[in-house]
Amino acid sequence: MTASISDQLLAWYDRNARDLPWRAPPGSPVPSDAAWPYRVWLSEVMLQQTTVAAVKPYFAKFTETWPTVEALAAAREDDVMAAWAGLGYYSRARNLVKCARAVAERGGFPATEAELRALPGLGDYTAAAVAAIAFGARAVVVDANVERVVARLFAIDAPLPGARKAIRAAADTITPDARAGDFAQAMMDLGSHVCTSRAPRCLLCPLAEACAGRKQGEPERLPVKPVKKPVPERRGTAFWITRLAGTEVWLVTRPAQGMLGGMRALPDDGWSAQADGSGKAPVAGEARRLGAIRHGFTHASLTLEVVAIAVAADPPGEGQWWPTGRLGEAGLATLFAKAAQLAQADG
Ligand code: ADE
Repeated sequence: MTASISDQLLAWYDRNARDLPWRAPPGSPVPSDAAWPYRVWLSEVMLQQTTVAAVKPYFAKFTETWPTVEALAAAREDDVMAAWAGLGYYSRARNLVKCARAVAERGGFPATEAELRALPGLGDYTAAAVAAIAFGARAVVVDANVERVVARLFAIDAPLPGARKAIRAAADTITPDARAGDFAQAMMDLGSHVCTSRAPRCLLCPLAEACAGRKQGEPERLPVKPVKKPVPERRGTAFWITRLAGTEVWLVTRPAQGMLGGMRALPDDGWSAQADGSGKAPVAGEARRLGAIRHGFTHASLTLEVVAIAVAADPPGEGQWWPTGRLGEAGLATLFAKAAQLAQADG
C-alpha cells in the first residue's frame, strides 16, 4: 500500500509534471551543475506564500542578474531588496542575502536537511524541499498543498494548526527513498491542480482509490481550518512630495527594523509603528489629498491616504529626489507603488 501510493503518484508525475524553470524533467538524475542547489533554494524561498505565476519573472531576473550563489553573496543588499520589490514578505529578501553570504563563505550549499535548516531563513519546509529536490535526499516536504493532499488521503480531521504533526507523520509513511525531489514536487502539483481547495477534481486523481477523505464523501471539508480572526483595520498617510513641476519625487529609505525595513518608499506619517498614522506631513507646504489606496497585509488591512505637496527645497531628514518617469526602477514595495500610481494618474 505504502509503496503503491508513491509509485502511482510518480507515474502520474511522469505524465503530468509542470515544466518550470527551476525544475529538472521527471525521472532525471539530480543535475550535477554547481548552480543547481542555488536555483532550487532561490525558487523555494520565492515560492513561500507566493504563486508560481508571480515567481516566474522574478526567478528569471534574479538568475540572470546573479547566476550563482557567490554572485548573490557579492550583491549589495539594496540592489537585492529593489529587485525583490513587488514579491512581498521582504524579510525573505534580507535573509536571502544573509544565507547566500553564509553559503558562499562555507564553499557551497550543505546537502543534508539538518545542515540546511541551520542556514539563515531556512525553515523546516525549505530545508526539506532543498534536501529533496537539490540533493535527492529523502525528506518529508510539507507545504500547504501537500498538507491538503495528505489530510484528505488519510482523512485527518483534526483542525489546523494542531493537525500538522499528524499530517507530517502520515506524509512520512508515503515518502519514498528514491526520487525524493520528484515525489515532493508531484505532491505539490497534485495539490495545486487536482486536489484543490474548494472543488477537488477526484476523477483526475491518481490517488482517488486510496483516498479516505474521498471515501467519506466530502474531501473538500479537509483539512479543517481554524476559524479566522478578522484582521485589524489600519489607517495611514503617504506623501507625494515633488519639486520641479512634478518631475522629481522625494523618496526615503525605511529604517532597517520594522515593516518593509530597508526598502525605498514614499515618506509617510509613521502608521506602521503605531495603531494609526498621525497624518502629519514631514514638510511644510500646501497639501492636496489625492485619494486613498487599500492594501492587505497578513496581519492588517491598510487604508493609505495619498497627499501631494509641492516644495522648492529638500524636506528635512535623509532622502533623495527620484525622477518620476523612472519610478519603476526605484524598487518600491507594492503598497507604495500603488500610492505612486494614484499620484501619477492625478497628473
Ligand atoms: N511550490 C513550492 N515549491 C514548488 C515547486 N518546486 N514546484 C511547484 N510549486 C512549488
